[in-house]
Amino acid sequence: MRTGSFVRTTTCLALLLLLILTRQIKALQVIGGNATVVQGRVAVLPCTLFDTEETLSQISWQRRTREKIRTDNFYTIQSSTGPRYVNGDDDRFKFIGSFRGWNGTLLLSDVQLKDEGTYTCIFTLFPSGSHKTEIPLTVHVPPLTSLEYNIPTVGNDEVSLATCTAAGSRPPAEVRWITGTLAEELRTTTNSTQHNNGTTTTFSSLVGVPTTRINKQSVQCVITSAALSKEESLPFTIQVHFPPAEVDIVKTSHGLFECKTEANPPANFSWKRSGQSLSQSSVRADGANLHFLKLTSDLSDFYECQASNQYGRKEQKLYFEVVVTQGSFTAVLVLFILLLLLNVAAVGLLFKYGHLQRIMGGIRDSPQRQAPTTSHEPPPTDQEPTEQAPLEVPQEDSRM
Ligand SMILES: *[C@@H]1O[C@H](CO)[C@@H](O)[C@H](O)[C@H]1NC(C)=O
Ligand SMILES: *[C@@H]1O[C@H](CO)[C@@H](O)[C@H](O)[C@H]1NC(C)=O
Ligand SMILES: *[C@@H]1O[C@H](CO)[C@@H](O)[C@H](O)[C@H]1NC(C)=O
Ligand SMILES: *[C@@H]1O[C@H](CO)[C@@H](O)[C@H](O)[C@H]1NC(C)=O
Ligand SMILES: *[C@@H]1O[C@H](CO)[C@@H](O)[C@H](O)[C@H]1NC(C)=O
Repeated sequence: MRTGSFVRTTTCLALLLLLILTRQIKALQVIGGNATVVQGRVAVLPCTLFDTEETLSQISWQRRTREKIRTDNFYTIQSSTGPRYVNGDDDRFKFIGSFRGWNGTLLLSDVQLKDEGTYTCIFTLFPSGSHKTEIPLTVHVPPLTSLEYNIPTVGNDEVSLATCTAAGSRPPAEVRWITGTLAEELRTTTNSTQHNNGTTTTFSSLVGVPTTRINKQSVQCVITSAALSKEESLPFTIQVHFPPAEVDIVKTSHGLFECKTEANPPANFSWKRSGQSLSQSSVRADGANLHFLKLTSDLSDFYECQASNQYGRKEQKLYFEVVVTQGSFTAVLVLFILLLLLNVAAVGLLFKYGHLQRIMGGIRDSPQRQAPTTSHEPPPTDQEPTEQAPLEVPQEDSRM
């Protein structure tokens, strides 16, 4: 009877103890987490102990980082002394948990790449000893972005137009170009270099044949990275240098003519009369403009506009005829003939010829005519067959 009771009591106690122990072993756990932070920001290293009845004697932290490659005990928290550094101070750490609440959470401000690594949070309990968990800290470094460009001269060989750089990014940045309508004419080449500190520099070049068509076209370099809160785009306007193309002389208003051409950099213009610089005060050149201040027949002559930049020059020469109409004070200035110069290509010549024909046609079709009263020498006749035709001009179209 006695023995049986003792056995029963012992069995009960043993079962109870086993129950308590298994419950504790199952329930006691240290919960951490992992942290990813952009360099310079604040990281939270979370760590909490759950479900224990034991006595907490200390919370301590270890780290293994890029800087501290060996396990480094750096911080402890005790109920008596509070938090303190173990191997030298680093004011960037702050204990934001609660000892009584079994919360060992740390804050790390101004996170640097050297801080990346694994942090271990250790709860020392009585009687069961230490319980720990690891918190990996990942540091992202945003890239420094820049764009460098070249200004090539028009040509047939592919050249690099611009290079977009995303320097020192972690994780590596993606660099791409938005080229819009130029997608078929341009291509990109991308390469990257990895640095010892774990960052990567990515270069992407925009390559293409420098034509006048791509000049002034807008493209964009777009950089994306997990370290950037939003993508960055660097806009860029392609520049191709080229000499003046065709030169045109157009009438802009009464007595005023303008010389026009395409060129990059923009052309400088100069005007000459029959090969001489303009000295008379009655015809004044101002940049691209030629201004007839009075209209007298003695101003009838060849006037030449030369457009130039550092890559070349091109001229256009026109015969201007000032027609003073009888019985009135109106004077009429006629662009008498288009004379093409040596360096105009054959295609250009045909085009100009057609243009002239149109002018002449317009003149002939006009119902209102006035005969010029001043007589003129016919201009030189070396190129245009039509120039021999007597020229009559409707006042509405040509008066200045
Ligand atoms: C961070 O935690 C998530 C979910 O717990 C996990 O999927 C991920 O792999 C962890 N990252 C690192 C760097 O440990
Ligand atoms: C631990 O403390 C941190 C900082 O005060 C808090 O954000 C976190 O929620 C706490 N953890 C738990 C489980 O209460
Ligand atoms: C990568 O591209 C840049 C810019 O185009 C160039 O300067 C560099 O030499 C390239 N590096 C390699 C390894 O190709
Ligand atoms: C990483 O190394 C590169 C090359 O040495 C350097 O330019 C960059 O500043 C470094 N980045 C960091 C975050 O230390
Ligand atoms: C164009 O004119 C400007 C100002 O007069 C001068 O500085 C420049 O050198 C000229 N350029 C050429 C190519 O003649």
